[in-house]
Amino acid sequence: MDDPAFDVGGGVALITGANQGLGFEMAKRIAHMPRVNKVVLACRNEQRANEAREKLQGLFADTSFEVVVVLVDTEDTTSCRDFGAKWTAIVNAPVDLFLMNAGGMGGRDASDIMQPSGSTRIFAMNVLGHAEMFDALFRANMLSPKCKVVYVGSEVAVGMGPFPKPDLRDADNIAAHISNTYNDPTGATAIKWIGPGNMGQSGYGTCKAIAALYFSALARRHPSMKILTVSPGGTRGTNAHAKSGWFFGNLIPFMMVAFGVGHPLAKGAERLQYGFFVNEDPYVSGAFVASKAIAPPVGKCVDYRSFKKTGNVFGDEKLQDAAYEAVRRFMR
Ligand SMILES: NC(=O)c1ccc[n+]([C@@H]2O[C@H](COP(=O)([O-])OP(=O)(O)OC[C@H]3O[C@@H](n4cnc5c(N)ncnc54)[C@H](OP(=O)(O)O)[C@@H]3O)[C@@H](O)[C@H]2O)c1
Repeated sequence: MDDPAFDVGGGVALITGANQGLGFEMAKRIAHMPRVNKVVLACRNEQRANEAREKLQGLFADTSFEVVVVLVDTEDTTSCRDFGAKWTAIVNAPVDLFLMNAGGMGGRDASDIMQPSGSTRIFAMNVLGHAEMFDALFRANMLSPKCKVVYVGSEVAVGMGPFPKPDLRDADNIAAHISNTYNDPTGATAIKWIGPGNMGQSGYGTCKAIAALYFSALARRHPSMKILTVSPGGTRGTNAHAKSGWFFGNLIPFMMVAFGVGHPLAKGAERLQYGFFVNEDPYVSGAFVASKAIAPPVGKCVDYRSFKKTGNVFGDEKLQDAAYEAVRRFMR
């Protein structure tokens, strides 16, 4: 990681959901990157955030680099809209690297609770909160013009296993997914619980699909930045399934280890890290980078904007703009 070819060119890194799993692993890696001198852990729980800060600072006690905590809850639109002011008060330096990592399936309560913004909770925690944070920092002049942004996506966006292929057509239909008023042709609603123990929901895949489209559209609106969506792939060693009920919360991590499904934490983090490097094919601005294979989602990555297997949905600029418009209906 000290190789100058991996020079990310910036000093201040912001990571959401940085206290555990991929977020914490990435905080460690980013802290090792040349020229990074400040890592900001944006977390919702103060105690967990401070524990992570101490662990991370302890690893780099001899260097001049600083670890800072800024509290934010991506489910809470107000907290995300206020993030620019908070950042200015606490950090007061433009963000050079922004890893939008917070989220996941969120457990059995995550999906159908509606937020004051009119969005489902699962969409807010995974997508809307990050879109608001980006805008809040931009308004506050706290995004470096060459900022590198990696949104943590997932292969579930394409349709995978129990996650059906999302039905995304235009801004109205995408907004209906976000507000949970969508009815699919089979008569089911946008958010369906899957399996005993509620391991997850179809809404999660739709959230990650809308996000990939939104961030591709955002990249075209900020050409000096590098903005992309990267999936870590099926990654063991995180707490992604901890809230999926006892059955799936224990079974899935066990199966992943027993049958070698998914790759280790280091491999998942490596993919995200490549997003911050300069001109790493296929990690170019606007891309949605994820596993070419989705069963299991590991191995070689492709840019899904030009991957014919999915009917080029993610490369459709009209659909990207529809997602952009729909998401912004729920923003300030
Ligand atoms: N692991 C995989 O196989 C995989 C595959 C594809 C994509 N992903 C994505 O990777 C990202 C990280 O997941 P992970 O596997 O590392 O899971 P994890 O170990 O559960 O970590 C999730 C992190 O996000 C934080 N978070 C969740 N909701 C938040 C909110 N509303 N506000 C602020 N922080 C919040 C959590 O904080 P708390 O500690 O407070 O809960 C935690 O730090 C997620 O976006 C997930 O969708 C994971």
